[in-house]
Amino acid sequence: MMSPMDMSGRKVLVTGAAGGIGRAACTYLAALGATVIAADRDDAVETTRDDLRTAGGSAECITFNVADKGAVEAAAAKVGEIDGIFANAGISYERPALEHSEADWRTVMSVNLDGVFWTVQAFGRQMIARGRGSVVMTASIAGVKAVRPELHVGYDVSKAGVAHMCKVLAAEWARSGVRVNAVGPGYTDTAMLAEVGRTQPAVMRQWMDDTPVGRLIKPEEIASAVALLLSNAASGITGHLLMVDGGYSIA
Ligand SMILES: NC(=O)c1ccc[n+]([C@@H]2O[C@H](COP(=O)([O-])OP(=O)(O)OC[C@H]3O[C@@H](n4cnc5c(N)ncnc54)[C@H](O)[C@@H]3O)[C@@H](O)[C@H]2O)c1
Repeated sequence: MMSPMDMSGRKVLVTGAAGGIGRAACTYLAALGATVIAADRDDAVETTRDDLRTAGGSAECITFNVADKGAVEAAAAKVGEIDGIFANAGISYERPALEHSEADWRTVMSVNLDGVFWTVQAFGRQMIARGRGSVVMTASIAGVKAVRPELHVGYDVSKAGVAHMCKVLAAEWARSGVRVNAVGPGYTDTAMLAEVGRTQPAVMRQWMDDTPVGRLIKPEEIASAVALLLSNAASGITGHLLMVDGGYSIA
């Protein structure tokens, strides 16, 4: 018997695939049998592809900037038909609201919000045409709650936008056979947080104390939720934001 989470014969695009969560998702999806298209603006995505192949998985890689609509469309044309999208590339930073420059605001929105939309629009077009597919976007605890102590209103609003985009697209595309969901990571052990761990151990302590499970989330724990939502095991789920945060958002 085949598991409903089996991804054999499915081609899935993962953006941010050179980073912690994206790379873990690529590994998880390849282990389920998917052919993974690992995408990032960083050439280090070649390492993700090579490691997947070394482990016996099926993988390709492509570099493009998700904030550049033309580049995303060119990548979609090059990749062709796919069955799943994990729109995950994102950036963070720390800045009090009154110190936000126009460039700070535009930069985070262009990657975290625009970049997700351009990716889903360009790669989703052929899913709609074929009448099947599954999309997962990366939101955040910061999109549903005022996180502490770090300050990054632009990041928070970009992630709230992703969470709402998920619902709106899910409703628009439901009758086309394309499901759209999102994951909401809590504080996750990736490069995005590593610098804080090195330089501000008290902040790291606070994050873990504020998380009911008392620890950081592992990238693999986000990856398994992404795989579930992309797979047939979630065939009845669309428009859902699945928090993978060790309880942070309910505490
Ligand atoms: N780590 C956390 O605690 C945490 C918590 C909540 C949400 N998230 C979200 O999870 C996602 C992945 O984050 P991560 O923790 O793996 O971080 P990461 O920094 O390890 O990985 C992010 C990846 O995105 C890529 N990227 C950034 N801008 C890009 C662009 N314009 N075009 C293409 N690729 C681009 C980077 O090169 C990097 O490889 C992000 O959207 C982030 O906001 C992370």
